[in-house]
Amino acid sequence: MGLLEKLNELKSAHAISMHVPGHKSKTIGNLNDIEISFDMTEIPELDNLHEPTEILSELNERLAKKHEGYHAQALVNGSTTGVLSGLHALYDESKTIYIVDDAHKSVHHAIELLNAVPKTIKISEILETPFDEKSIVVLTYPTYHGDVYDIEKMISHAHSKGGKVFVDEAHGAHFDITENFPKSSMNFGADIVVQSYHKGLPSLTGASVVFVKDKHTMRRVMKYIDIFETSSPSYLSLLSIESGHAFYEEFDDEVFFLMRKSVKNALEDNNITVEESNDPAKFILNIKNHSPYTLEKAFRKHNIYSEMVTDRGVLWCLPLWHDGDTFPFDLLLERISMVEVKEEQNTKTIDLSVLIGKKAVRNIVPYPPGVPIIKSGDLITERDVTEIMQLRINNVKIEGLEDTLDYYTER
Ligand SMILES: Cc1ncc(COP(=O)(O)O)c(C=O)c1O
Repeated sequence: MGLLEKLNELKSAHAISMHVPGHKSKTIGNLNDIEISFDMTEIPELDNLHEPTEILSELNERLAKKHEGYHAQALVNGSTTGVLSGLHALYDESKTIYIVDDAHKSVHHAIELLNAVPKTIKISEILETPFDEKSIVVLTYPTYHGDVYDIEKMISHAHSKGGKVFVDEAHGAHFDITENFPKSSMNFGADIVVQSYHKGLPSLTGASVVFVKDKHTMRRVMKYIDIFETSSPSYLSLLSIESGHAFYEEFDDEVFFLMRKSVKNALEDNNITVEESNDPAKFILNIKNHSPYTLEKAFRKHNIYSEMVTDRGVLWCLPLWHDGDTFPFDLLLERISMVEVKEEQNTKTIDLSVLIGKKAVRNIVPYPPGVPIIKSGDLITERDVTEIMQLRINNVKIEGLEDTLDYYTER
């Protein structure tokens, strides 16, 4: 089947998006203003992506107004580009990288490219860690599940020792959108902050922004963006950043909270428990006596597509409902009421015991969330194999596993 056919199949089934991107199949925000014919190249009036001085510079200036005191650069290649470039820029001057708790694979890839040996610390240890002026503290805020923590104290502690703070805020582009949402780390002076506009705001996949406090650091970040990012400006992606940003500036949360309440009630009426994340735009769902993996499948049977499923529950990224949106709200409520959860044992297991005691040839990464559970070169233990087999039974995609398996079974 061709990709177009597949996507048309989902469209015909009126697949409901409870996942990123934030425009939810173009039903949220204002992407209708963007025409495919706007996909152009950098003709004279359209500026240069990595050395902007005209129309793209104006866009960056508008983005920078999100938080006073920051420089901004629109990215067409995801927060991944911002993570790779930001960490390289800081590493030019500071050589001790502290990774706090779980970090996305892009952070680990930056470290691999830098040939750096990071220190891994827990969030609970930050305030006791003796950072110095050579330290780079890498924080993920919020977590994929929308959890936040007292980042102000942590940034302030790192800064008081002369360290720099890099915040992977991929899941927080909508933070500060109203006072009822958590605050961006930019309120607390993080040195570099990367946001995936495509996750939290109605922008196209890949649309992201890097915010940098210091002008000299910004110059270095731009040097690395030029290395890591395509030089071809996708005006569709850039337009969607502009549109997502305007949405952010104008958003009023009244409709959002009303709709959110109705969805929560509908879920609870069908005995689905709703864990409210710190981020109001995320729900973590469970149902008694069944695994979250079974619940996710039950949603999918009714063409409701979730963002992620882990042992903690099924994660939904809620639409930022607004006046005039075209999200299929009634259909969602109807489908939720029809969801019936039946346990089906997946017996498709493959024996991975051959991997016990072997070195992983690539990072082994359940995706989503994209956090490596075994690093390339690490010994794979029996416990790792049990965990991987359990994830496989639950149909979780595991990157790096097939290559590692092939390496040990095909020679
Ligand atoms: C925590 C985190 N950081 C960074 C990224 C990369 O973001 P992007 O897809 O915009 O490159 C992701 C993607 O899921 C993520 O979850």
